Amino acid sequence: MPDIIAMRTVPTHGGQLRQIAEQFVVPIHELLDFSASIYPDGPPAGVMEALNEAIHSPAILRDYPDLDLPELRMALGGYAAVPPVNILVANGVAPLIDATLSAIRSRSCLLPVPAFGEYRRILTKCAVEIHPYRLLPELDFRQDCEQLIGECQRHQCDTLLLTNPQNPSGITMSAQNMKDIVQRAAENKIRVLLDEAFIDFVPERSLSHDVLTLQNLTVFRSLTKFFSMAGLRVAYLIAPEHVVRVISCNLAHWPVSSVAAMAAKRATEDSKYITATILRNRQEREWLRAELLNLEMALFPGSANYLLFRLPEHLRSKSVWEHLIVDHRIVVRNCASFEGLDSSYMRVNVRNRADNELLIQALSSSLSHPD
Ligand SMILES: Cc1ncc(COP(=O)(O)O)c(C=O)c1O
Repeated sequence: MPDIIAMRTVPTHGGQLRQIAEQFVVPIHELLDFSASIYPDGPPAGVMEALNEAIHSPAILRDYPDLDLPELRMALGGYAAVPPVNILVANGVAPLIDATLSAIRSRSCLLPVPAFGEYRRILTKCAVEIHPYRLLPELDFRQDCEQLIGECQRHQCDTLLLTNPQNPSGITMSAQNMKDIVQRAAENKIRVLLDEAFIDFVPERSLSHDVLTLQNLTVFRSLTKFFSMAGLRVAYLIAPEHVVRVISCNLAHWPVSSVAAMAAKRATEDSKYITATILRNRQEREWLRAELLNLEMALFPGSANYLLFRLPEHLRSKSVWEHLIVDHRIVVRNCASFEGLDSSYMRVNVRNRADNELLIQALSSSLSHPD
């Protein structure tokens, strides 16, 4: 029997519920989304308050945002432990990476894969030669410093694009190991672009603060995942001051609305939300990990807010992904679109306990009735 998935369009991003609802002819409001890695219980209350204030103040909507967003950068600086002059804000990680590649005139980049699909699109758009470097599932997608540097040298890459925690694997390097890579890269005149979009779940592993001493490092962070603000579009980069100045010349003016800036400021000032979210995510992730292991999934040791697993051997050619949608209205991330993976790999967001139980029940029934 042919693999049904092969005949379907598999989304290239998580959270594409409208397309999935149309494709499988199911009501969109019935779908429970585990495919986008967004913390389910945000945004923080202060974000909703800021939005409320904004709609009652015509001036906020009428006037242009401040060109430099000093208040937001001050709040982000407090949150990430760096001075505001080292911060640049925009409407997503992709535009920030795009502006950085142009600013540093990158010509050739080593890209460990599997990785966030947008990287390829941005690198291609910026005419940067891409050298994919395959990370292996049998080694838990771990990255070795000397191998990465050796590959950069072999291909004469001037840029190394890393993600910590990795997406989709969730594998997270210690800050020290990451720092070693950045330092070895500096010795070889290689710039490191480090995407920390999920680092807020494991903040002790961030290199944000190290940007002050590591001149070849630019860190990218986002409010999308941890603060559940995907719809507002706020991200920022942290880089040495002179690099921030050059990159900002490659960004359009006013990339973030006043409303989004107000909401983002409140979010990063909410220390209660921050502490509770780290703890809650860790507890739920560990519960989900144990349940997935009970179902004999080949699980990778992720430490962000999602888990990557591979279906048991006898089910690898089956369309479990489709069954979950059609029979259970549950959408998980089919990993066929990730370089180096296929549809036997699935990534699931860590949601709250009630939702996670539904996922486990659905998976368990799909496994016992795979056809
Ligand atoms: C590794 C990684 N970086 C960045 C992003 C996007 O962040 P933003 O919403 O701030 O553009 C994603 C979204 O899935 C991601 O997986």
